[in-house]
Amino acid sequence: MDKFRIEGGYPIGGALRVGGAKNAALPEMAACLLTAEPVELRNVPQVKDILTMARLLAHMNVEVSGPRADGEEARVDLRAATISHAEAPYDLVKTMRASVLVLGPLVARTGYARVSMPGGCAIGARPINLHLKALERLGAEITTEHGYVEARARRLRGARLLFDRITVTGTENLMMAAALAEGETVIENAAREPEIADLAVLLNAMGARIEGAGGATIRIQGTSSLHGATHAVIPDRIAAGTFLVAGAITGGNLLLRGVKPDHLGAVIEKLTECGVVIRVENSGIRVEAARGLKSADVSTEEYPGFPTDMQAQYMALMTQARGTSIITETIFENRFLHASEMVRMGADIALHGNQAVVRGPTPLTGASVIASDLRASASLVLAGLAAQGTTIVDRAYHIDRGYERIEEKLQELGARIERISG
Ligand code: EPZ
Repeated sequence: MDKFRIEGGYPIGGALRVGGAKNAALPEMAACLLTAEPVELRNVPQVKDILTMARLLAHMNVEVSGPRADGEEARVDLRAATISHAEAPYDLVKTMRASVLVLGPLVARTGYARVSMPGGCAIGARPINLHLKALERLGAEITTEHGYVEARARRLRGARLLFDRITVTGTENLMMAAALAEGETVIENAAREPEIADLAVLLNAMGARIEGAGGATIRIQGTSSLHGATHAVIPDRIAAGTFLVAGAITGGNLLLRGVKPDHLGAVIEKLTECGVVIRVENSGIRVEAARGLKSADVSTEEYPGFPTDMQAQYMALMTQARGTSIITETIFENRFLHASEMVRMGADIALHGNQAVVRGPTPLTGASVIASDLRASASLVLAGLAAQGTTIVDRAYHIDRGYERIEEKLQELGARIERISG
């Protein structure tokens, strides 16, 4: 099992091109199921979750080529000419919950889907009840047994949907299902993340008729079939935010290229409030060492609020900020697993329900720590970059799910980090 060994205390500097957004590429790969024609995705991140989705689609007889390097980017070519069996088996779904994103497209395209229930993960129970309730509103017959969901529908019928709670993949699943439904579907209380608007761009390029994606109400006029398309995935705003924190926590000077600043509004605003110097330039976003970090409270919210996927990274930064910051996690019920590991490095963090109280600055010293989930592992690497001495981050596979060659990129930017096997 791979680990990272980090020698802290070196500033991160230089320039880095941020790759495509994993959480846009995943639903967009699933969208290929909606047509028999080729779909080409560019600027796809070469991360583990993308490979898992490729394996899942190939399991259904989808022709998948890539991801493979294509200049500075990577591309994936997909063709679901025929779908041999519309099933997402447990051994694949258990490694990646986003596999549930094949549910809507499969039942829309083939009239049937059998998908393993994803089960919980480190950060929470992660139910999919809202996905299933909405699919039933579109006329799907849903049964759940032996740990699997089965969905059947001769043809989905458009309906008015109101999500009790904002759900990112729930909105994506239903947008894809509604694209081939008969009649109009209106999704109220939709998630507004940029990845949803990007998925709609692809679906419309495939012939779908979707309006309002990126806002709270999405209108979809169903069509009888969709055709192929080529699409470039938007940059990964969470990877970008993670590197902004890397520059800030190490007192470096880093330019991020290929990012969309308007996808990072809440993150840029919060980091600026803490005294981090961030400049949006025409070539990207530059982060410079703060002349003294100040603490600031934050509460994670659905987009456009401060993203829960940046909460752990922000906590690492607040351990180095002067004052007390209260971090409130409103999206997931158990997303503070990184806190106890940071405390072992010298941080002063007290947990009270869905709030973490961080008192800083406290010097961090290198230690052996264990990653529990994708963003927690990123936060422990960030803490290691700022700590004095050597940090070993175990279970590096978590970080490989969502960050492409992170240790190589950080090395190129001046960090002392290496991957050790065993
Ligand atoms: C997406 O997960 C992202 N994953 C997550 O990123 C991200 O943290 C999350 O959205 C929130 O922004 C992908 O896009 C692949 P939700 P998702 O449905 O869609 C509850 C990462 O680090 N809920 O918006 O699974 C749920 O339990 C990952 O890249 C229900 O109760 O999140 C949670 O508390 C981690 N019933 C809240 O809603 C449902 O049917 C938001 O979940 C669905 C969700």
